[in-house]
Amino acid sequence: MKKNDYILPSINDARRRSKDSVDTVTFSLDEKYINLGKDKKYFIITHGCQANQRDSETMAGLLDAMGYISTDEDKKADVIIINTCAVRQGAEEKVLGEVGALKRLKTNNPDLIICIAGCMAQEEDTVKLIMEKYRQVDIIFGTHNITSLPKLLYEVNTTKQRKVEVFSKMGEIVESVPATRFMSHKAWVNIMYGCDKFCTYCIVPYTRGKERSRDKNDIIFEVEQLVKQGYKEVCLLGQNVNAYGKDLGDDYGFADLLNDVAKTSIPRIRFMTSHPWDFNDKMIEAIKNNKNIMPYIHLPIQSGNSEVLRRMNRRYTREEYFELFDKLKKELPGFAFSTDIIVGFPNESDEAFEDTLSAVKHCEYDNAFTFIYSKRSGTPAANFEDTIDQKTKEERLQRLNELVAYYANKNNQKYQDQIVEVLVDGLSKRNSNVYSGYTPENKLVNFTGDNIEVGQIVKVKITKVLSFSLNGEMVKV
Ligand code: 5AD
Ligand code: SF4
Repeated sequence: MKKNDYILPSINDARRRSKDSVDTVTFSLDEKYINLGKDKKYFIITHGCQANQRDSETMAGLLDAMGYISTDEDKKADVIIINTCAVRQGAEEKVLGEVGALKRLKTNNPDLIICIAGCMAQEEDTVKLIMEKYRQVDIIFGTHNITSLPKLLYEVNTTKQRKVEVFSKMGEIVESVPATRFMSHKAWVNIMYGCDKFCTYCIVPYTRGKERSRDKNDIIFEVEQLVKQGYKEVCLLGQNVNAYGKDLGDDYGFADLLNDVAKTSIPRIRFMTSHPWDFNDKMIEAIKNNKNIMPYIHLPIQSGNSEVLRRMNRRYTREEYFELFDKLKKELPGFAFSTDIIVGFPNESDEAFEDTLSAVKHCEYDNAFTFIYSKRSGTPAANFEDTIDQKTKEERLQRLNELVAYYANKNNQKYQDQIVEVLVDGLSKRNSNVYSGYTPENKLVNFTGDNIEVGQIVKVKITKVLSFSLNGEMVKV
């Protein structure tokens, strides 16, 4: 097959932002794909963030609509999809290892169709590498091409040739795409796609395209349906939810959406991720006024040093972050706060790193997701000079993690002997006699009790406090 039959990604096209408005179209599955999956099974591996989890649910929904059945064993599958993450090099290496291991399954079953989806599929160099070195891969489809999955599977089945379909720009929002949700009590709800912030280290604005908000009516309708189906929690998803609605050109913003989603009376509402930029007072009011908005805010700081923040293109200084953080703490008492932090950004000095440690001391976060900077080809920071060695970066991460654990533990002390409300996720992954779930403040609780069902909200008395979880016993009150 000639190379130009493939629709390949281009980082240059992905960089450009058009002013064109984004159309919303309604999905329908072509009849000719409906029985393609009869008597066949699929297996999906998902890496990365919640946006990817939600995309995998869409892929599962499309496959179910085509008659495929899901399996939890890769060796029984006729179609395997790896939904990939490109945020850090480590995640990419893991995927390539997995793809390598799948070669064995393909040898045993030459009809097996292996697909690569997600953010790695949006990277030019990665697609070239897979096409050349990983010949067991049959289909590569991008984050904007999920609804092409039925067509791509049909084509591979009929032509027996490899297919690549990766658009670098998204032209539209597709509604009414089937989705098979992986949980029956908590649901991810996309409110917007893409990111226009262009932090200099981050690949996401290239892999997920420009910011596009869904129509508020589609979002509210989706949450209403979830309420009817018995869901207890929704998490409103976007790379930067505060920017919700800005591209739609009216005054309706994230605060309005929060108020409207709260009216659906879903018991628990969460949202991810808030950029400190344009976290406005109206949003604080909406959070304060609606009891079903959970008392937990994730507010990435990335660095505590203003010069590093400037080179990261974060659009705030250390002082501006503190001003917002202190206001949130004051206005929202009892809320838990978490953050994301990158150490070892190119040429981060010892002093700059110390500023990050002192920022953690200032904010006393309940939790922090900490990362060593990973160079992403095509991003501005990939060209920044970096004289900091890997060992120094690892030592910094270690010191940071110790400090984060100290404050996480300190914050958790107040829960000792208290009764908390837990939305039950199921049996704990580590111990099958123990259930686990989350409090409104997003604290993980492992607890014992009888006759407990997934999706129940139960009361638990905390008997032991750890840094990143709480142990307890269910109580009947
Ligand atoms: N290297 C390390 N961490 C990164 N993140 C994003 N890009 C990179 C990178 N190149 C982190 C940020 C972001 C989180 C989702 O991943 O902290 O908030
Ligand atoms: Fe990446 Fe920054 Fe956008 Fe977050 S806000 S997805 S870190 S570019």
